[in-house]
Amino acid sequence: MEKALAQRRFPIRRAASRDTRLIAKLANMAGGDTLAFILRGIDSTAEATPTYRQMAAEPTGIYSYQNCLVAASGSRIVGMANAFPARLIEREIAGAVLTEREELLRPRTELNDPTSFLLNNIAVLRSHRRLGVGAALLAAVVNEAKQQSFPSVTLHVWADNTEAIAFYLAAGFKELGHAEIPWHPDLPHTGGSLLMTRPVGFERDESVRRRLATVSQDSADERASTSA
Ligand SMILES: CC(C)(COP(=O)(O)OP(=O)(O)OC[C@H]1O[C@@H](n2cnc3c(N)ncnc32)[C@H](O)[C@@H]1OP(=O)(O)O)[C@@H](O)C(=O)NCCC(=O)NCCS
Repeated sequence: MEKALAQRRFPIRRAASRDTRLIAKLANMAGGDTLAFILRGIDSTAEATPTYRQMAAEPTGIYSYQNCLVAASGSRIVGMANAFPARLIEREIAGAVLTEREELLRPRTELNDPTSFLLNNIAVLRSHRRLGVGAALLAAVVNEAKQQSFPSVTLHVWADNTEAIAFYLAAGFKELGHAEIPWHPDLPHTGGSLLMTRPVGFERDESVRRRLATVSQDSADERASTSA
């Protein structure tokens, strides 16, 4: 589906505090059980969704609804993106006492590009996937990064999340770094975590590149026809 069409069918708007239940559900989908893994190191029965909901309801903090965009289908939210300046991550962890499980994930947390805009979470309801909702949310995040003058958008993705990686590659992201995460019986991921990046001016760069390629092909054709 054309991106513009998806944006019309699933308009993107900034989240409001009334959206926190759906934001939490989608954040939990996007998180790949990372928060549940951390919480269960403290309480083996802990669930991640209530914690996401609490964090999303706050007016500040990285998971705040203020840092979320949502895609709507009528009155229903079908997708969510949580994004903010990447340097906020460093502020969030500075001086914090990490739990044993957070220490295990430290290589992932520390693999960060503080000059970028960070897409921390993105998810679309299963019933609405492959309709362009994710791409429309991503375009809105890139647009926000551009408006705030960030040169690039970065994100972390578990190396075994092949579907999300395919989505990011299709959107022009490339691998920037890899964090090794030691195996743990309760962490449902293998292969570590990737940091991916995409310049904010990607579309413009790509269209310039394509235009230049066409121009040089045209001149080659012209040269060939004159010398024939
Ligand atoms: C990743 C995710 C957000 C993509 O959302 P989506 O709305 O389905 O994506 P789109 O429809 O906009 O896809 C755009 C393009 O990305 C690529 N793509 C998306 N999902 C893909 C998949 N499962 N396999 C291969 N390519 C895929 C395709 O090129 C697609 O274009 P096409 O449908 O015309 O072929 C969604 O699959 C999701 O919510 N996954 C679970 C949560 C998650 O893992 N989030 C990422 C955490 S890092």
